[in-house]
Order: sequence, then C-alpha cells, then structure tokens
Amino acid sequence: MDKENIVGSLDIKHIGIIMDGNGRWAKKRFLPRKLGHSQGAKAFRSCLNSCVELGIPCVTFYAFSTENWSRPKEEVDSLMKLFCSFMDEMMKLNSKNIRLRFIGSRDSLPGEVRQKMEEAEAMSAENTGMWCCIAFNYGGREEIVNGAKHAAELYKSGEITLEELNEKNFSRFLYTSDLPDVDLVIRPSGEKRLSNFLIWQSAYAEFVFMDVLWPDFTERDLINALLEYGKRDRRFGGV
Ligand code: FPP
Repeated sequence: MDKENIVGSLDIKHIGIIMDGNGRWAKKRFLPRKLGHSQGAKAFRSCLNSCVELGIPCVTFYAFSTENWSRPKEEVDSLMKLFCSFMDEMMKLNSKNIRLRFIGSRDSLPGEVRQKMEEAEAMSAENTGMWCCIAFNYGGREEIVNGAKHAAELYKSGEITLEELNEKNFSRFLYTSDLPDVDLVIRPSGEKRLSNFLIWQSAYAEFVFMDVLWPDFTERDLINALLEYGKRDRRFGGV
C-alpha cells in the first residue's frame, strides 16, 4: 500500500507515542544517557515529519513525565535543554502548518521553558494542519485530579450542574480538551505499560508495543504500527 493511502484507509485520528529506550540505547554504546536523549530528539523530529507526511490528524509525544524529576539533575537539565532547542527550531521554521500544544503542569518548569511553550503555541495557533501535542511534565492522574477540581469549582459557583458533568463533557477539563480520543498508543523499547500517559484519553485505544529502542525508531516502524492497528477489530465494548 502507498504511504499516502495508509492513514486514509484507517479510521485513525490520534496517536500517542511513548518515546522510550533512550537510556538503554546510550548504555549499549557506553555513552552517557544524555547522548541517548539527543539521539532520541533526532528520532522525534523525523517521526514528527513522518506523521505530517502520512496525514495523521493528531499525535501526542510523551517527552517528560511528572516522575522524571527523580532522575539525576544533569539528565533533567539536558532534557530541558533539548526541549528548548527544539522549540527554537520550531519557532524559526513554523513549518508544515503544525499546531503545537503542550500538555502537563507548567508551574514547576523553568521560566525559559514556560515562555517558549507560550510563544510556540501562540505562533502556531493560526495553523490548520496536524496537531502535535508534547506531554512535558505530564502525568495522567494529575491531569484527571486537576480536571475534577476545576469541575468542582464550577459546580460550587453554579456554572455547571451534576447532570452536565458526564463522561463526554468531562473531557473539556483535560489538557486535551477538544482533541479526539487516542486511537493508538505506540510504545517502543520492549516495555509493555502505559506509565501514566493519557490514561483517560486512551480508554479504548489499541496498543502496539515494539522491541526497537526509541533512537532507532524509523518511519518503517511507524508504518508497521499503523498496519498492525489496521488489523485490530475495535468493538468499543460492543459485539
Ligand atoms: C524515556 O527513555 C525517554 C525520556 C524520559 C525522554 C524522551 C525525550 C526525548 C526523546 C527527547 C526529545 C524531546 C523533545 C520534545 C525535544 P529512558 O531515558 O527512560 O530510556 P531507558 O528506559 O532506556 O532508560
């Protein structure tokens, strides 16, 4: 099947990608972990381009979890630096009509990172192409708890009724409000878990776990994951 026709033949609106395996990639080569992350950033850029070329409407990349702060300071700093240089690049190019959105808590992030997030979102706000969400300082449980607190405040002030607070409407209290539910989660590196990633949004997602480490992830791997998704029988609890 032609590359261009793959996504058209699948009913797929939103893919989540857990970029895992940078540390092991570096370890295998006796390199510092931060070099694994910079190689991972290259794989991220190339995967982003492939998603645009394939015509995927929305993709969310897991770049930094709320649990990742427990890593050594040098590693955390290198991830912040990588993130900032990616943002500089995006702002210089504003290419491919991509709409950027950052999901996660911004409060504890360095000022420079927060500022770049705001600038990049504002710069790409008028774009009409693919949504690229980057989960940075993101945790799925925290997202749901924050959403519930927000809903409780609106209920207290009389702006929302209990009847209005249903599964469909609750999505508007999440970072991903107005984005479609996740259809497919791809996790490379051989690990088979969700790690607090988009736990609400992926309630009915299909999961494809792959043995490749993230820095080695290619367009062929992405296409293979999509083809595997195409074979799944999604019943959403029906028969
Ligand atoms: C998990 O691999 C990966 C991360 C915690 C960071 C992911 C970040 C990138 C790919 C950098 C690019 C991101 C942006 C937005 C520029 P790991 O370190 O847990 O790997 P391991 O399980 O093999 O140790």
